[in-house]
Amino acid sequence: MSHVYKNYRTWSASVRWFHWINVLSVMALIFVGLIMLYKKELGITSLDAKIGLKELHVIIGYIFATNLFIRIIFAFIGPASARFSAFIPGKGFRQNLQRYRESLKSGKPQQFIGHNPLGKLAVTALFTLLIILAISGLIRAGTDIYYPPFGSTVASYIAEEGIDPATLMPYQKEGVNPERMASLKTFKSPFGKIHLYTAYLLMLLIVIHIAAVVRAEVKEGDRLISSMFSGNKVLTEKPQDE
Ligand code: HEM
Repeated sequence: MSHVYKNYRTWSASVRWFHWINVLSVMALIFVGLIMLYKKELGITSLDAKIGLKELHVIIGYIFATNLFIRIIFAFIGPASARFSAFIPGKGFRQNLQRYRESLKSGKPQQFIGHNPLGKLAVTALFTLLIILAISGLIRAGTDIYYPPFGSTVASYIAEEGIDPATLMPYQKEGVNPERMASLKTFKSPFGKIHLYTAYLLMLLIVIHIAAVVRAEVKEGDRLISSMFSGNKVLTEKPQDE
């Protein structure tokens, strides 16, 4: 059967740059995060190494969080393919999802210039997890190693009277008020749990996301993967969102 191929402009440069910087920084954060989690099993026991790993994770975290922050600005003021409306499920979403799923079952999948309805759900879930990770991570960066943006506030809170907060060292008791340190521990603990469980959820979603993208590439033939590099999709059917 012969197909008529038509080229469409899809993801804007801002979306593609965000996507690949996000992929690289998230991979690096997961890698360092897993080393932090299994440091004992890996034979990493010194306090300096523990702090060094956290500092490395946080520095990569700044790249990740800045990229995410810029992406969110583009979701408000950027081109159509970058806007929230391009992925957050809106009016008529249930029916669209139903129609899309039926088209998958019938073996003649609907094609889209932007996200298909399942893709919209995936992107919304991914963004939610990324935002939770960025916020909880930035809070823990402040409470654990006194790094920006909250580190100086945390250090000022726990420093003993007459001690310069800037001289406090992570995991050192000198110059720290014990009661305030205890209440800081109570405060920071849930953020550590949220951060960890969200990271696990993200890892699961990344696996599903990659499997779904590969399936769409193979079954729907819309060159989804190369479109995230080139910004072009080549479709054989009339797109549903033209
Ligand atoms: C996709 C993004 C991220 C992923 C997948 C991720 C993953 C992880 C993992 C697996 C851990 C180990 C948890 C543990 O030791 O209990 C961790 C800890 C940590 N992360 Fe992230 N992280 C991300 C983003 C960030 C960001 C943006 C920051 C801050 C700039 C950050 C700061 C921290 C800190 C301070 C810890 C230590 C918390 C603790 O010891 O409980 N993370 N992260």
